[in-house]
Order: sequence, then C-alpha cells, then structure tokens
Amino acid sequence: MGKQYQDFGDGGDSKSPDKLQALEIPVNMEGKRVLDLGCNAGFFCIEAAKRGATCIGIEANSQWFDEAVLNAGKYGFSDRIEFINGNWADEVSRLDEKFDYIFWLSAIHYEKNQRTMVKNILSVIKPDGVFILECGLIGCPGDGPVASQVTRAGGSSVLHFSLEYLRTRMMAGLFSTKLRGMSVQQEGDRVPRWVIHCYPKTRYCRIIHGDPAIGKTTHSVELARATGSVLVSSDDFFADMFAEKLAPVSVANASLMRECFNKFNKEKQSLRIDLTTDHLIESGHAGEIVEMFTKFISVDFDYVFEGYLPEPVLTLFKSKLGKMGFVIWETTRFG
Ligand SMILES: C[S@@+](CC[C@H](N)C(=O)[O-])C[C@H]1O[C@@H](n2cnc3c(N)ncnc32)[C@H](O)[C@@H]1O
Repeated sequence: MGKQYQDFGDGGDSKSPDKLQALEIPVNMEGKRVLDLGCNAGFFCIEAAKRGATCIGIEANSQWFDEAVLNAGKYGFSDRIEFINGNWADEVSRLDEKFDYIFWLSAIHYEKNQRTMVKNILSVIKPDGVFILECGLIGCPGDGPVASQVTRAGGSSVLHFSLEYLRTRMMAGLFSTKLRGMSVQQEGDRVPRWVIHCYPKTRYCRIIHGDPAIGKTTHSVELARATGSVLVSSDDFFADMFAEKLAPVSVANASLMRECFNKFNKEKQSLRIDLTTDHLIESGHAGEIVEMFTKFISVDFDYVFEGYLPEPVLTLFKSKLGKMGFVIWETTRFG
C-alpha cells in the first residue's frame, strides 16, 4: 500500500478533517443515502455515517478498500457502510438506486472520461440530491472556459479546468453548480482546490412580458441564442388564430375561445394582440390561453417565452410550469 492518504488523526497527509469542514455537508444526515467515489480508506463514508447516513463507498485500489472495510468495523459502522472494490464507472452503472449525496473528492483528475462520468453520476442522484465535487480549478472565477493538462508534483499529467469550463462544458445541461469555497490545499498542489456543490439541472422558462412594441422580441432572440433555449412567442398563437389555422393546440373550450376571438376580430384587418388578450380574459378565457401556451412545454428544454401576459394569465402560466424554474423579466420603456 502507498503512503497513508486520509487522516483519521493518525497521520495521512490529506488533512481530511479540514477537507470535511470545507465540504459543507449537513450536520444531520439521518436517513440519507451517500455514495463516495474513490473513497480511499473510508474517512468520508464514516463521517457521513456518524451523521446518520448509510453509504456506499467505491474504491479501485484493493488495499485501500481493505483498509476502508477495517476502518468501518473499527468505528462501528460496518452495518451502515458498504464498500465496493471496483472502478467507479463500472460500479455506478450497476447501481439501481438513487442517492441524496454523491462525493467525488480529490479524484476527478484520475478519470479520463470526466463528462461521461458526470452523466453516470446524474443517473444515480435524486432530483433534489447534491453532488459534491472537490477538485483543483485553474485560474480565477471569471477567467473563461479554460482546460489544460497540468503536470503534478509527482510527475503525472492530468486534466485541469477552470470554473467556467466546469460550468459551461463539463456540467452543461446536467448540473447547476455553486462554488462553495476553497478546500484545503495539499503539499505539492499546483492548482488550488475548491469545493463545488452541483445540483441536477432544473429546466428554466425565462418569461419576458410587457406591453406590445416595447422590444421584447429583440431581447428574447438574444437571450434564447445566448442560453440555447427554445424561443416561443405568445404572439404566434394569436397570429395563427387570426390566420384561422389554430388547429395544433387542442385545449379545453378551444371552440368557445375561438368564437370569442373571431367575434372580437371580425371586422379588423390587423390583429391587436393586447386588446384581443384583454378581451379573452374579460370573457373568461384566461385558462384556455394559458393551456394553449403551456401545452407544448417539455422538461427536455429551456425556454424563453415572450409575450403580453397580463394578470391572471401570468400567475396561471407560472403555476402550470410545475417543477420547471422560471425567471420573469418585465420589459419597460425608459423615459
Ligand atoms: C487522491 S485519493 C482521494 C480519496 C478521497 N476521496 C479523499 O478525498 O480523501 C483518490 C482515490 O480515488 C481512487 N480511484 C482512482 N481512480 C478510481 C476509479 N476509477 N475507480 C474507483 N476509485 C478510484 C484512488 O485509488 C484513491 O483512493
């Protein structure tokens, strides 16, 4: 076995108790399931078990694995921690449960296929779970998406990346990331270590609403392009109704809404979406409007939804987004 790595108060140079502090795991983990990838001699599994969790630790090195099993026994947690001697990629794909916390500490640099592994991690985390990553980050927060091979003190060359690379490449579409703070630095580190809490990514609907002709569309196009979101304009639904081709959305009372719409717009050569929307709401069709807008929304995409959404349409719209997050941006004209 190599030199002792984890520090149970008996040596080991990785300052495990200080690292534990930096991770910011909850004091009470009663009933929580924890998965520790590259668990070494079991320090973090044992600490999670002390807080009430039950754990699985995966360790490729059989001598560290044996040490972890011994340590769990020594601390009285053999019944709360299962250790698996294997490769994290293979073992994670065999797991058929979801975890509240997943630790990947001082270990991502051992993995060549890092994004593939992050996808594997996503497949075994609960929707409200936290994936705690502790690793070296190059540059400073805000430096841009940079990644490069870095030669470590021991001579091995490993991939390191910046925070922005982590956010916009490694975790893109998979996890949202929150930089918690610095981790403990270890002797010979060439890259400072950080702790990042990662949450399974929630899909977002960014709602841009306001009066007509105020610049919503320009904002929306720019925002959708920058965020890779699907762009939807409420105007399109009304334009379709006006052009008498609203067939695709079948909503409750569609024919009544349609009748009301036609009556209101009968003599008109051009469509005033704001007045039409107000009239439909006054006539009791807010529910149908919202159903028409939200029917197509899927959790597979982020959206930018722009339109004239007076109350109660806006409130109803938000309530129909379910677990999808939303940001509301009300456009106003200055001056
Ligand atoms: C630097 S140590 C960090 C140990 C522990 N996570 C900590 O922070 O104290 C990295 C650990 O990951 C293990 N490891 C490396 N590659 C692995 C793999 N593919 N599957 C499972 N364990 C691996 C190593 O054997 C080692 O115990």
